[in-house]
Amino acid sequence: VRGRVWGLLGAAQSEGAEDLLALHAGALDELAAHLDGIAERAPLLWESERSKADLEGGLDATMRRLDETNLQLIRRAREVRTLHEVTDAVSRNPAQTGVLEAIVSIVARSLEADLAAFLLLDDATGELVTQPGAFGLANDEGSLYRISLSNEQSSSVRVFKTGEPFLTADAQNDPKVIAHYARLWRCHSVLAVPLAVEGRRIGVLRVGSFKKNYFTSEHVDFVSLIAEEAAVLVEGAMLSRRLAESNRRLAEMNRIKDDFVSTVSHEFKTPLTSILGFLSVIIDGDSGPLNDEQKRFLGIVRGSAQRLSGLVSDILDLSKLEGGMEMEAVSLDLGALARRAIEECDWKAAEKGVKLTLEASEQLPNVSGSERWLGVVVENLLTNAVKFSRQGGTVALRLAHKGEGVQVSVADAGIGIPEADQARIFEKFFRASNRDATGAPGTGLGLAICRHIVNRHGGRIWFESEEGRGTTFHFVVPTAKAGEPAGRPPAATRRVETHGG
Ligand SMILES: Nc1ncnc2c1ncn2[C@@H]1O[C@H](COP(=O)(O)OP(=O)(O)OP(=O)(O)O)[C@@H](O)[C@H]1O
Ligand SMILES: [Mg+2]
Repeated sequence: VRGRVWGLLGAAQSEGAEDLLALHAGALDELAAHLDGIAERAPLLWESERSKADLEGGLDATMRRLDETNLQLIRRAREVRTLHEVTDAVSRNPAQTGVLEAIVSIVARSLEADLAAFLLLDDATGELVTQPGAFGLANDEGSLYRISLSNEQSSSVRVFKTGEPFLTADAQNDPKVIAHYARLWRCHSVLAVPLAVEGRRIGVLRVGSFKKNYFTSEHVDFVSLIAEEAAVLVEGAMLSRRLAESNRRLAEMNRIKDDFVSTVSHEFKTPLTSILGFLSVIIDGDSGPLNDEQKRFLGIVRGSAQRLSGLVSDILDLSKLEGGMEMEAVSLDLGALARRAIEECDWKAAEKGVKLTLEASEQLPNVSGSERWLGVVVENLLTNAVKFSRQGGTVALRLAHKGEGVQVSVADAGIGIPEADQARIFEKFFRASNRDATGAPGTGLGLAICRHIVNRHGGRIWFESEEGRGTTFHFVVPTAKAGEPAGRPPAATRRVETHGG
């Protein structure tokens, strides 16, 4: 064929028929030529037969592979969807309430299981505890059982201890399961997988079906995967549940403490007021003459009683401020308030030979605030400035309209605040290391109270100070809004007794 020999066609004859070959030689030639024609096409035919069979076999294999891939894809998609649903349920629920419920119900629905529950370790008792909100279980004491980690009969305990999943086709007739609980849950097929966070086991996820032989090893893989992904969320939910509980207890304890502080302070106030009242009567000589020494001693008693009374007032104020009490706001003339504060502080300043000055720009706008509480701020700042001034110094109180508010500044040329102490100066009970330089008494509550009050007004308080050279405290409070009710005309005194030195 096409110049190539592809085979031989032979003929032979038996003895005594010599001429037969010669006779048929032409026919043989013809036959060979015919065969050549067939032979030319034959390999193609064989080839196509073979490739048809190959193709069919290949197609079968591909179809089988496609089927498998499809199944895997479907399974994977289901897993991804379930995981997505789980995380979605958690993210839509930042308060973390109901997270465990959401997860078990998603797991149960995606497996078409009848029951699903988390059993989590209670460190305090060493028990696995069925969590409320289990899927398919009544939320009653009987269903939500606890099981001790020492009970090796329990498949959940074994799963927890070994970290290996457990699968049974008929829990009610399986000696490896406590049949009592299986019957309680009315389930036959049970699947349990461990829950671990960074290798630390926190509990077990249990899924059950009323049908026998329900779960397969594929389910085991699937639930294990969910457990792996959900463990962190579950632990988060459990911790936040515990945190909420301890927060509630702390808030309760704090309320009791606040009640205690305010009751005790009130109980202190009443007798102190009567002590101070009667002391004044005696010192003023209204109950009979006193010699000089008696007067001096009683003066010391009065000073101490006043300090005690001031301290009690500060503690009461702070407990009210920390407790978030209501603070009325009216339209207020800070200039008038400042003048009154200076009058009240003047005698204290005079004792030390300190001069008080007031500078206020013309036409200050009113501010929005509480007269009583802003009065406390100005009084505290003035008292501090006098207290930490040297004999014969000057304290300047300045008021100025600044942008949206009125700024009050109290400047002294006293001992100043050491740089190292400046960051903590507004903390309660904090007093600077050089405070004894002037022998000034105090508790370290004044500035903490000031900061609370100014913040509650939506304002700001700050200071500049240089040790040995002086200090200026500033605070700013917002101007009054149009139509805000006006405050009462300035009252005489806010506090009967004054304190501090
Ligand atoms: N004008 C000031 N100059 C220097 N130091 C100051 C000045 N004002 C405050 N301080 C420092 O800040 C500390 C805290 O002040 P704060 O008013 O809170 O407490 P206190 O005056 O010591 O006591 P209290 O006000 O409770 O009677 C003071 O002890 C003092 O060390
Ligand atoms: Mg003070």
